[in-house]
Amino acid sequence: MKTIKKSLLTVSLLSAGLFSATQFANAGEVEVLHWWTSGGEAKSVAVLKEMMEKEGHTWKDFAVAGGGGESAMTVLKTRAVSGNPPAAAQIKGHNIQEWADLGFLTNLDEVAKAGNWDGILPQVVADTSKYQGHYVSVPVNVHRVNWLWANKVVLDKAGVKVPTSWDEFFTAGDKLKAAGVIPLAHGGQPWQDATLFEAIALETLGNADYNKAFVDLDQATLSGDKMVEAFTIFKKVHGYIDSNSPGRDWNVATSMVINGTAAMQVMGDWAKGEFSAANKQPGTDYVCAPTPGTDDAFTFNIDSFAFFKIKDKDNQKAQQDLAKTILSKDFQEVFNLNKGSIPVRLDMDMSKFDQCALDAMASFKATSKTGGLVPSMAHGMSTTSYVQGAMYDVITNFFNDADADPKQAAQQLAKAVKAAE
Ligand code: BGC
Repeated sequence: MKTIKKSLLTVSLLSAGLFSATQFANAGEVEVLHWWTSGGEAKSVAVLKEMMEKEGHTWKDFAVAGGGGESAMTVLKTRAVSGNPPAAAQIKGHNIQEWADLGFLTNLDEVAKAGNWDGILPQVVADTSKYQGHYVSVPVNVHRVNWLWANKVVLDKAGVKVPTSWDEFFTAGDKLKAAGVIPLAHGGQPWQDATLFEAIALETLGNADYNKAFVDLDQATLSGDKMVEAFTIFKKVHGYIDSNSPGRDWNVATSMVINGTAAMQVMGDWAKGEFSAANKQPGTDYVCAPTPGTDDAFTFNIDSFAFFKIKDKDNQKAQQDLAKTILSKDFQEVFNLNKGSIPVRLDMDMSKFDQCALDAMASFKATSKTGGLVPSMAHGMSTTSYVQGAMYDVITNFFNDADADPKQAAQQLAKAVKAAE
């Protein structure tokens, strides 16, 4: 009798549509702005959508294509200014502080406390996520930017080893050219030019002066000899990319390495997401190595979601659940396996991760003690968006002008930074 009663109750609840409502009390909608649209990226963000839907919430996808996120940030500004921001937006580094400073972001301290974020996150990650000591964003992952990706079969065929210095890169590049292969796959967009340039500058400047230039914005270092050397190498590297590079998306450049038209690419480890999506294995199909001369450094780029102030109570609940889900071990594992990055939590079981991720994790931990853990300028971690934009301009103009002079470029870099500060 009891069972019948129970099943009747279930049926009536179901037919009244009450069952799902009870199960998912306070289900809400989360609108999430991001720029994860490449193969590997889309696969990664799909995991978050699935997990939120499992909790009964509705995911409203707000994807704005464009690697590095410049277009996404422009669209976000328009939405926020018109008083209708999304619940969460992929915002990084200094930009988080800028948005919080304008009063747009909500306080996540309660969910952070419940999840012991201060205890599970590395200091550098927690600091990036806070504004005036309060959590206003949730870190998703840590990307290493100073990576060189190479097609192993192509290198072996040309009798070339992964270069550990820029001189070795040029020697290898000449051999690859002779074998009919494009030595370096590059997408000619300002953020990609900056990604390549900062890797070269990291080698010529060394870790301490890299920070002096890109974090402290020290004029003498920005215009100094080592910066001139960086521009000189940068110019020479231009001779090893193909003429179709301008405007090319980063993932198209990665696909050139995957299919063997090109041998190498300098790109953060979101590139690994593309290799993985194409079922390629590190060690056999491709190699990941620190960019020449930077094996004692880790240029970090932390992806985060900043949470905006929204009015609807159910949507606020969905927002809190999103924050909680992002830092769950389950999400951290699946997401980062797809994305190519390493988890933000240091207490993770890494047994499912490949050698590139294990190397990245080891380097992240080691460099956080030696001073080699440096913020990426190209990805908004080292300075404000204004200064970053000024640097982008100088770097890109230099790269696209065959007559540009390295010494003048370093002076222009210092001048542009001063004006933007
Ligand atoms: C982001 C990555 C993203 C890449 C390319 C970077 O700035 O941090 O998450 O995959 O841009 O879109």
